[in-house]
Amino acid sequence: MRTRIEPYRIKAVEPLPLTTRAERERALDAAGWNLFRLPARLVTIDLLTDSGVVAMSARQWGAMLQADESYAGADSFARFEAAVREVTGFAEVIPAHQGRAAERLLFEAMVRPGDVVPGNTHFDTTRANLERLGARPLDLPVPMALEPASEAPFKGNLQIEALEDLLHVRRPPLVLMTLTSNSTGGQPVSLDNMRAVRRLCTAHGVPLFIDAARFAENAWLARERDPRLGSLAPAEVARAFFDLSDGCVMSAKKDGLVSIGGFLALRSRPLAQRVRRAMVVTEGFPTYGGLAGRDLDAMAIGLTEVLDPAYLADRIGQVRSLAERLDAAGVPLMRPPGGHGVYLDSRAFAPHLDPLDLPGQAIACELYLHAGVRTSEVGQLMRGRPQRGGVESPVSLDLVRLAIPRRVYTCCHLDYVAEAVRDVFAAPQGLRPLEIVEQPEALRHFGARLRPRAAVPAF
Ligand code: F0G
Repeated sequence: MRTRIEPYRIKAVEPLPLTTRAERERALDAAGWNLFRLPARLVTIDLLTDSGVVAMSARQWGAMLQADESYAGADSFARFEAAVREVTGFAEVIPAHQGRAAERLLFEAMVRPGDVVPGNTHFDTTRANLERLGARPLDLPVPMALEPASEAPFKGNLQIEALEDLLHVRRPPLVLMTLTSNSTGGQPVSLDNMRAVRRLCTAHGVPLFIDAARFAENAWLARERDPRLGSLAPAEVARAFFDLSDGCVMSAKKDGLVSIGGFLALRSRPLAQRVRRAMVVTEGFPTYGGLAGRDLDAMAIGLTEVLDPAYLADRIGQVRSLAERLDAAGVPLMRPPGGHGVYLDSRAFAPHLDPLDLPGQAIACELYLHAGVRTSEVGQLMRGRPQRGGVESPVSLDLVRLAIPRRVYTCCHLDYVAEAVRDVFAAPQGLRPLEIVEQPEALRHFGARLRPRAAVPAF
């Protein structure tokens, strides 16, 4: 049989909100043309993120009811700790309420003002957490990522020579590899690249950490794209990456298959003790870390379910088949499709718009107006920075992300999405150049207000 079927059946359902174009126009205007500001009840298919929007399994819900909510030393913590140790191999396990909290705890323990922290492309909360401490997040070149049409299999790989050059002149407190690289299209890092980074870090005495938010998807893609890994189980491939590092920060809202949760897992006991001492003040006691016992149990089970080959084959297959449907219609995409979503190449999609007219946001807004599909811009709005005088330069990669929540939407829902994207692509005159009216200083895409520019460019 060739038809791909979801490897689960559905036990609980919730209605999809259906709206009219007029309702969506009013809502978008009121939201300042910022999709983060829309009420979710006015969104039909929500591809804003794959974070915390998972459908949990019956096993997870069952375990939540039986959780131990003791303040300290709960059984739920013991089960969670055992699961994280099993998956990562790290002895020191510290829960945190989500990924950015784990980042903050790790950086506060390791990073000083003026430090440079290199990586293969930091996620935006990672950047913001480093900047908050007076450090400089440094995205080393990931050369293939800048060519959306190229079929290079490991576009999350960083350029080893660039890391080598840096380590000759500076000693960063850590190097952070993000698996998969969210900001460049959910693209995987190869085991060879990770090994090369490890060798350099060892030679220069620099600890190496993983941002493991999508570690299972990275393992699956690495296994598919590197024939030498094909005979290993996804859990073994994932473990090979963890074995090369000194620890990880994790947003379990992605590959932990939960709505909330995260952790730090470390090899070094003294570092873990530093984190534990500091976290009591803000995050909570080290055996619950800002979470309920039930959240820890849900994570423990999610971390094993996510490495099931049937789950991963369906997950990555769903993303790939959406990409294939769009490709067939000539829609420009980040190739090859990555782990957690399809990324449109905004500049090629809307060549009539100036890069500073926020083409990605214009596409995202039109997809919402046309079909009630909510996506997110990963481009000028998210990554651009106003320079002195308010003018900014174009970012190197301008994308729209269609992030696919885990186990939530069916093939039919994604057919509807594909049709919406094809329609918008076929009528680019509907895409309106946008300008920013108001923006917060950090993470501006969450809070900015925009409006369409008065003059619409000619075709
Ligand atoms: N690292 C990566 C690679 C991420 O994609 C995210 C979140 C985080 C860290 C932070 O984790 O949200 O649990 O605090 N990404 C979400 C997204 C928000 O939509 O891609 P968090």
